[in-house]
Amino acid sequence: MAEPAWWQRGAIYQIYPRSFADADGDGVGDLRGIITRLGYLSALGVEAVWLSPVFASPMADFGYDVSDYCDIDPTFGTLADMDELIAQCHAAGMKIVLDWVPNHSSDRHPWFVASRSSRDDPKRDWYVWRDPAPGGGPPNDWLSTFRACGSAWTLDAPTGQYYLHSFMPEQPDLNWDNPEVEAAMHDVLRFWLDRGVDGFRLDAIAKIAKDPLLRDHVGAARRHDEDWETIHPRLRGIRVVVDEYEDRMIVGEVALQDLHRVVSYLKSGDQLHLAHNFVFAELEWEADGFRTSIDDFEALAEGRAWPAWFLANHDKPRVASRFAADGQGPRRARAVALMLYALRGTPFVYQGEELGLPDAEIPVDRVVDVDGRDPERAPLPWRRPSAAGPGGGFTTGEPWLPLVADAERLCVEAQDEDPRSTLALVRRLAALRAEFRVLQTGAQRSVDAAEPVLAWLREDASDRLLAAVNFAAAETPLGVGDGAGGRGTLVLSTDPDRAEGEVDLGALALAPSEAVLVRLPR
Ligand code: GLC
Repeated sequence: MAEPAWWQRGAIYQIYPRSFADADGDGVGDLRGIITRLGYLSALGVEAVWLSPVFASPMADFGYDVSDYCDIDPTFGTLADMDELIAQCHAAGMKIVLDWVPNHSSDRHPWFVASRSSRDDPKRDWYVWRDPAPGGGPPNDWLSTFRACGSAWTLDAPTGQYYLHSFMPEQPDLNWDNPEVEAAMHDVLRFWLDRGVDGFRLDAIAKIAKDPLLRDHVGAARRHDEDWETIHPRLRGIRVVVDEYEDRMIVGEVALQDLHRVVSYLKSGDQLHLAHNFVFAELEWEADGFRTSIDDFEALAEGRAWPAWFLANHDKPRVASRFAADGQGPRRARAVALMLYALRGTPFVYQGEELGLPDAEIPVDRVVDVDGRDPERAPLPWRRPSAAGPGGGFTTGEPWLPLVADAERLCVEAQDEDPRSTLALVRRLAALRAEFRVLQTGAQRSVDAAEPVLAWLREDASDRLLAAVNFAAAETPLGVGDGAGGRGTLVLSTDPDRAEGEVDLGALALAPSEAVLVRLPR
């Protein structure tokens, strides 16, 4: 394989800016806070950072409701701060990826304010407006992604029509069937590309292509509110804009449960570079399911689509909580880290996963999100609350969400001093990935191992590495068969009690939830 691109080499680290680091003491993270922590990210060996939205927003969906795509919300700072962040990331050898929200704007965006002002407004058709159904009520049976919001339609009484919102009513869907909308959103990309950003995460991207006839789901063979055929020309249009600039990358939030469809967004080479794979991200903790999902992607990709792996983000329970059965959460968080870095493809690490954080407990009177996602959005604990105060080094003020209960033990400061910590493990994984080219670009194949072990080989002309994960909460023989038997050198284990060095694979038993990386003779 040729020299890998930056977005293939190492991990892309997701920053949820509200919760990363607060420089001005208002309890909400900001761009200057991120700038002060770039050293931490550099030491973690991340290749790039992706920032959840920092654009002007009324914050109904905490930034995913954008009222000006070309400005920074004062909560986060200024355009000058963003310019400095871009420059400092680059100076530290890291790329920076922004979150582009093309499917919907805020209801306060001037485009929507104009659109809703009258049926004859030139911007009316920039959003999706329809008359009520013949008997009254919403035009069709589409639902908001957020259960609490119910119908995807809200009636605007003054003009007597409904508008579509795939998410909150405060997030009206833009009408991508209107070429003016497409052109305006392309200009947003150029605005940030001109300022030097290296790529975009494309929010809810399958939603920008809907059945233009707005037909009901019920009775239909498939959903009509996303992933319509028009998605492909629209992705190509986006890619053309990005390719006007050198060495940029787009990763789509392709929230579909059909891997064929996911791969179709990637494989042609002129659409997305990377896709967040929600088939993988929503698996149960079970070796066979993981193996099938990994192999299916490789088979469908036929070497023409580059994989990306994630299990956590700002919308999903954290790994340590989600896979917490049998008290294995913290150990499984470590195993997942090894998996992400050792699979062929780009690892996406959500802030705090490198600390093995669990979800925070949010008392009812502190709940702020419409869809139950506060626990995974708790601020990052940087320092021991006993020394730094209740803000745990995240803020000197009152944090907008409570920190995890065990911040004293799980904070960066504590883990930084402990060679057995999850933070130390993730730093090591990043270093190994940088050192062993085979982890970046080597071929991959699954190795026969009995449930509950997942094992795979990475190979290139100079190295052979075996990776294995014990999905059980009990000790389990590695038990690998074909081609991987014999002796090897244990390079890394997620179990801090495991000694490194020579191992006999036939005799190796994995500890509960242990994952290992073993170098095999070439
Ligand atoms: C994506 C984001 C999520 C947001 C939604 C609407 O799924 O990840 O946080 O609420 O899109 O923009």
